[in-house]
Amino acid sequence: MTASATSHIDIAAPLLQVQGLSKSYGGVRAVRDISLAISSGTVFAVIGPNGAGKSTLLNLLSGLHQPDDGTIRFAGVELVGMPPHLRARHGLARTFQKIRLFKQLSVLENVLVGYHTRHAIPPWQYLLHGAAFQQERRRCREQAIDLLEFVGLSHRASIAAGALSYGEQRLLEIARALATAPRLLMVDEPAAGLNTTEVAALLLRITNLRARGITVVMVEHNMNLVMTVADRILVMDYGQFLFEGTPSEVQCHPKVISAYLGADVP
Ligand SMILES: Nc1ncnc2c1ncn2[C@@H]1O[C@H](COP(=O)(O)OP(=O)(O)OP(=O)(O)O)[C@@H](O)[C@H]1O
Ligand SMILES: [Mg+2]
Repeated sequence: MTASATSHIDIAAPLLQVQGLSKSYGGVRAVRDISLAISSGTVFAVIGPNGAGKSTLLNLLSGLHQPDDGTIRFAGVELVGMPPHLRARHGLARTFQKIRLFKQLSVLENVLVGYHTRHAIPPWQYLLHGAAFQQERRRCREQAIDLLEFVGLSHRASIAAGALSYGEQRLLEIARALATAPRLLMVDEPAAGLNTTEVAALLLRITNLRARGITVVMVEHNMNLVMTVADRILVMDYGQFLFEGTPSEVQCHPKVISAYLGADVP
């Protein structure tokens, strides 16, 4: 193959392609030889029992941890070895299972912090009143308020993030992640702490993001949400690939039923 042929990006290629990804912590093989391909503009869910390696997979994709083995290609760029902030500049954003907000800052300020990956200006400058940043600040504030509107938190903009309910804090994490204008958004248990009405609203938001062309990778235990919104689902168990398919394929697959219900499957 020629050099020009190898540098050509196939528009039909998956947005994210993972090959042979593995990560151990001491003796625990958290992720073992996972391969997957995610098409642009789809919702890809990752499910599996507690400790299956779902969050570790997101940690490897976002660059929080580096894999022991394997490759991660995003829009034609190899991500392994690249630090998280550079991955964010390439269009990856995430939320965390264990919430990571600036609890003392206001809800709005937390979203504004998300903008720093898009600009050369350090995040703390957005919080100052320097004249040089006034116009930029105004534009960012408007966009941040739009994002808060999107997650249903605009009426809470000025209160401290730490005063939000657990479910609201998870929504704020989504708004902050979206402030980086991602092509691919990874969410780790976005429905945790949400009531039924809030889960229904979350479902609409995820559908809306997909309609805008944002690819979503969602780790989630809420099966109603997963089965309704996901285009494809990866099932992991003990760090390993168990099955991948559409919601209806996953629901009736014997190995999946066995992993979840502990049923004996011949
Ligand atoms: N930083 C770490 N150090 C040591 N062990 C870890 C670390 N991260 C994950 N593990 C271990 O790797 C395994 C997979 O953990 P992980 O958090 O990825 O599971 P999970 O599928 O997200 O589970 P849950 O549904 O409970 O969130 C577990 O045994 C966990 O204890
Ligand atoms: Mg997890």
